[in-house]
Amino acid sequence: MRMHRKSHLDERLAKCANLTIADVSEKNMKAAAGLRNLIDFNAVFGNDNAVHLEIGCGKGRFACELAKRRPDIDIVAVEKISNVLIEACESAEKEGISNLHFLNCAAEVLPRYIPEGSVERIYLNFSNPLPKLGYAKQRLTHPRFLQLYKGLLKQGGTIVQKTDDGDFYRFSLESFMSCGFEIVEKCEDLAALGDADNIVTEHEQRFMDMGKNIYRIVCKVK
Ligand SMILES: C[S@@+](CC[C@H](N)C(=O)[O-])C[C@H]1O[C@@H](n2cnc3c(N)ncnc32)[C@H](O)[C@@H]1O
Repeated sequence: MRMHRKSHLDERLAKCANLTIADVSEKNMKAAAGLRNLIDFNAVFGNDNAVHLEIGCGKGRFACELAKRRPDIDIVAVEKISNVLIEACESAEKEGISNLHFLNCAAEVLPRYIPEGSVERIYLNFSNPLPKLGYAKQRLTHPRFLQLYKGLLKQGGTIVQKTDDGDFYRFSLESFMSCGFEIVEKCEDLAALGDADNIVTEHEQRFMDMGKNIYRIVCKVK
């Protein structure tokens, strides 16, 4: 289903320009092809704190909450659809959050913007499971993406993935192992685990309300 473009989107994005690191919205993707414009995190955040990356942040509930709970880290939330990202930007702006910035681009082009070995943790929260035959390569835990993330992560850096989809969970586990990640945690029922530090995302809340199990994988670059 095609999403209705939000009214005054460009003006609203422009108002949040202080929170977006690079102007690479889908409209500008073609112009950005081949471009390499590495982000200087120290300059963006004004400190040298560890950087955490959320890929596919949607409306930003997780990233905003993480930023508030962890003032000691810097967070970059990535979302390819500006129509969705605007809500995340406006929430962060409204709440006066300063340790969270946004990157409006697709995961595929992250190495153009994120310096090699600069990220401590990557979050993949409820990425689209894309179950249809022939779509495996588009899944954000396909080996082609894991190799890309490996390049961005520091030595010993981690990836935390959550999903409500059992097949996607098993596909991801296989994929992490085949790419040489060490599996630190594999959980098939997060509610039963009772992790008080878990930050519930928009989609997670929806799936929990439907009574679905939440799966979580934590893995580490060896
Ligand atoms: C199912 S939503 C989950 C949103 C949020 N993380 C949550 O848990 O509520 C997946 C999000 O990932 C974004 N996404 C999908 N593929 C992406 C890609 N290749 N690069 C960046 N974002 C992507 C989608 O636009 C969508 O907003």
